[in-house]
Amino acid sequence: MKLSIAAVVALAASVSAHSIFQASLELYVNGVDQGHLTGIRVPDYDGPITDVTSNDLICNGGINPYHQPISQAIITVPAGASVTAEWHHTLNGADPTDPADPIDKSHKGPVISYLAKVTNATQTNVTGLKWFKIYQDGLNPSDQSWGVDRLIANKGKVTFTIPKCIPPGQYLLRHELIALHAASSYPGAQFYMECAQINITGGGSTSPATVSFPGAYQGTDPGIKINIYQTLSNYTVPGAHVWYRLILFWLADGICL
Ligand SMILES: *[C@@H]1O[C@H](CO)[C@@H](O)[C@H](O)[C@H]1NC(C)=O
Ligand SMILES: *[C@@H]1O[C@H](CO)[C@@H](O)[C@H](O)[C@H]1NC(C)=O
Ligand SMILES: *[C@@H]1O[C@H](CO)[C@@H](O)[C@H](O)[C@H]1NC(C)=O
Ligand SMILES: *[C@@H]1O[C@H](CO)[C@@H](O)[C@H](O)[C@H]1NC(C)=O
Repeated sequence: MKLSIAAVVALAASVSAHSIFQASLELYVNGVDQGHLTGIRVPDYDGPITDVTSNDLICNGGINPYHQPISQAIITVPAGASVTAEWHHTLNGADPTDPADPIDKSHKGPVISYLAKVTNATQTNVTGLKWFKIYQDGLNPSDQSWGVDRLIANKGKVTFTIPKCIPPGQYLLRHELIALHAASSYPGAQFYMECAQINITGGGSTSPATVSFPGAYQGTDPGIKINIYQTLSNYTVPGAHVWYRLILFWLADGICL
């Protein structure tokens, strides 16, 4: 089964500290769009999160209140499926006339995805969850290109794989980009994120190591307090390792740990 999720996210053209963030998520199952604003907690409007100690860093929705009513949909995603998140400048989706669609090109930085197991994917309380990273795209030092540059080149789309061997059940998928254009001091880095409500089917029984939000990020992290206006030989994406990669060779054999 071909399956993808598209998240449509709005970011203001402005490079000031106050970018607009809006999000919607669309699911395509066998090419069929499951619906705009379906299965994701969508902020109506406001700037990025800049405080790494704030609960807003978990799934947004605090200083950027959610669009009401919050979708109660839970998106079915087979373990091992390919998921595509799609970012755009406005809720209307792609706009070829907008130079800042999908995102202003100044907003360079990494793109990251995490999962957290939950008892109920529509539960409102998201504190205390245990997150594991399943995807990251940071800096390519050879040409100084960032995950956000590739996101723009792909017309807003970011594709990653849901691990094959994690337990089935309900999860929150936290998809994020960090804009580093003003990150040479802290606070400065801009965190944009949204959480999708998913139900993973199939899977196995592997329990990945986890991190907490807030907690996973520190204002002093080399990937958060950084001057990107220089040639960088490396970049450390914040928030632990991508769990998936550690067992890639087992996954390739189709063996669930
Ligand atoms: C899941 O959480 C939502 C939001 O709090 C609640 O409305 C719903 O009843 C819960 N579902 C279950 C099965 O507990
Ligand atoms: C939210 O869940 C956490 C972890 O289970 C718990 O410690 C906290 O008290 C809950 N908060 C609310 C408002 O229910
Ligand atoms: C999740 O998927 C399982 C397996 O198909 C199903 O039994 C369960 O009802 C689903 N739960 C939700 C909340 O969609
Ligand atoms: C690059 O690597 C060096 C040496 O490991 C480390 O000290 C530095 O923090 C890294 N820089 C970034 C931006 O991650």
